[in-house]
Amino acid sequence: WPEIARRVDVIKWLQREQDAVILAHNYMPPEVYSLVGDIRGDSLALAREAAKSRARTIVQAGVHFMAETSKILCPDKHVLIPDTHAGCSLASSISGAQVRALKARHPGIPIVTYVNTSAEVKAECDICCTSSNALNVVEAIANEWGVDQVIMLPDEHLARNVAARTHVSILVWQGSCEVHEQFTPAQVGAVRRRHPGVRVLAHPECPAGVLETADFSGSTAALERWVDDHHPEQVLLLTECSMSDNLISRHPEIEFVRSCNLCPHMQRITLDGILASLAFGQHEVTVDEAIAARARRAIEAMLALPD
Ligand code: 13P
Ligand code: SF4
Repeated sequence: WPEIARRVDVIKWLQREQDAVILAHNYMPPEVYSLVGDIRGDSLALAREAAKSRARTIVQAGVHFMAETSKILCPDKHVLIPDTHAGCSLASSISGAQVRALKARHPGIPIVTYVNTSAEVKAECDICCTSSNALNVVEAIANEWGVDQVIMLPDEHLARNVAARTHVSILVWQGSCEVHEQFTPAQVGAVRRRHPGVRVLAHPECPAGVLETADFSGSTAALERWVDDHHPEQVLLLTECSMSDNLISRHPEIEFVRSCNLCPHMQRITLDGILASLAFGQHEVTVDEAIAARARRAIEAMLALPD
C-alpha cells in the first residue's frame, strides 16, 4: 500500500502540473480505476467527457481507439496513452481499405461503425455507435436515409444482437472481441447449477447464444446501473474481469461469481505507465487532420442523437 499511495500522490501532483484529466474505462484495473480515474465510464461516456473536457492534456486509461476518439474530438489537446500496444481485436479486424471495398459493393447503404475501430475506419463510415446506443443509431440512420438495411462494423456479435431487436436488416462484418467471444452457454449453465439464484448479466459483444442465457445485457455502464438498481445477492458479469473488481468496492455485500476473462490490452495500463505518461509526455496520440475531420463527422453524428 505505501508504494501504491506514493505513486498515486506523484500522479496527482503531475496532473496538476500538466493540467491533465485521466479518463478511465470501466475495464481498468481497480487501482487505476478507483485511485486515479477522474472520469470513469463506458466508451460513450468517455467520448462525451473528452468532448467537454477543459484540461490541456487527456491521459487515456483505456485502449488505443479510445485515445484516438479523444484526439479526434479534442484536436488542440495533448492526448496521451500510457502504452501504445493497448490495442483491440475488434479495431484490428478491419482497415479503411476494406470499408472502401464494402462501400463499392453496397452503394446507398449507410455504414454504422462501432467506436472500437481505428480513426481511418471511422473516417469511411457514416455514423459511430457504442454498445449502449447501437440499436438507436441503427434505427436512426436507416430512418434518416430512408432505407431498411445498414452495414454494421466490425463486431459480428454486437451486430447480430442488435439485428435480433430491430426490423432493420443488418449486414455484418466478421470481427469479434477476443475477450467476449470466449463465453459459452455451457459455462453459464454450469454457474447457474452451482449458484441457483445467480443473476447473469452479459455484454452485447458476447455470442447470441450466451445473451439468450442472460437475465440482462448492456454496455458496461448499463451493467453497472443494473447492479446498482437491483442489488442481487449473487451476480455473474459476462465481461472483462476488472468490471467485477471495480463494482465490488461499491457493493461489498454482493457476491460476484467469477467466470470472466481479462482483456490483455486494457491490462497494459498501469499506475507506473500513467506516471511515466505524465512525467515524460508519452505517448502522444496523433491523427492525420484530414482523416480526423471525416472521423469527427461520424462521431459527432452519434453524439448528436438523443439518448
Ligand atoms: P463499452 O462501450 O460497453 O464500455 O465497451 C467497450 C469495450 O471495449 C467492450 O469490450
Ligand atoms: Fe477490444 Fe474486447 Fe478488449 Fe474491449 S475487451 S478493448 S472489445 S479486445
